[in-house]
Amino acid sequence: MEGMEKFLFKFKGYYFHHSSLDIGLIENLDNFEIRENDFFIITYPKSGTIWFQQLLSLIYSEEHRKGTGKLETKERVPFFEYKTPEMDFEERPSPRLFSNHLPYYLVPSGLKNKKAKIIYVYRNPKDVMCSYFHFAKNVMLQFTGTFEEFMKQFLEGRVVGSLWFDHIKGWYEHRSLFNIQFMTYEEMKKDPRCSVLKICKILGKVLSAEDIDAVVRQATFENMKDDPLANYDNIKAIAFGPNAKGHFLRKGTIGDWKNHLTVEQNERFDKIFQREMKDFPLEFIWDMNED
Ligand code: PPS
Repeated sequence: MEGMEKFLFKFKGYYFHHSSLDIGLIENLDNFEIRENDFFIITYPKSGTIWFQQLLSLIYSEEHRKGTGKLETKERVPFFEYKTPEMDFEERPSPRLFSNHLPYYLVPSGLKNKKAKIIYVYRNPKDVMCSYFHFAKNVMLQFTGTFEEFMKQFLEGRVVGSLWFDHIKGWYEHRSLFNIQFMTYEEMKKDPRCSVLKICKILGKVLSAEDIDAVVRQATFENMKDDPLANYDNIKAIAFGPNAKGHFLRKGTIGDWKNHLTVEQNERFDKIFQREMKDFPLEFIWDMNED
């Protein structure tokens, strides 16, 4: 394969990225104590994770909103499974905010007490796949093949996050076990203010209209791209080396898949999507102009 598989670490049927993975933590997830006011953003990779990290940071932290704080979003809403060794989750004050890419069956079982809240953010999988292709090639520098080769790998689930279909269906089909709400990347893109209000409502946070405006403004693609606390540019070099030339914030649009898939690839994708997602009730938005 074009170089990527040697970076995968399989644990209980799910592919992690082996670098910066806290194996001790994932092996002992059941013992991880969940607090009632913990909050989790859960995503399949490339579905808007760092965007929601920024949104939560802005909603929860006045100093982040006012630009007086110095903490990066990855410190305010850390990745659960890819944390730095010096970060001690048990020492963190409540409310603890986390993000992760875990499948439903690997999260701490304490989440099933339904007190801690989860937002599962999903994005149309054609855009996920395109975003992932660029990321694997230009940021991780761990994939050297063609788009067609990546598409096969993605559709077979041989990527970090495993199979997209399994991830979203697993979470949706087991939703009754958790206190979980589903949101889309696309609704955030199309109507950011309404989506920020929706997140605040889920979290039980009341912000002034002015603060809501500040959250919306600072979470735009353009503003995040210029914000060193939110754009992950310095993490990119640490995680993937100085030659990483792409960016976590690449394009930030809906429908970029139309610039990547041939007619044949699109038809093949649609066939698999229809087979896998038959009877799946959540809606997907494939185009910026779609309602
Ligand atoms: S990761 O590596 O899994 O954590 O990546 P993730 O953050 O989930 O997804 C990266 C894609 O999200 C886009 N993004 C945004 N789009 C619109 N607005 C904002 N503010 C924003 N922030 C991040 C980012 O550009 C990646 O998508 P692509 O299509 O590659 O641009």
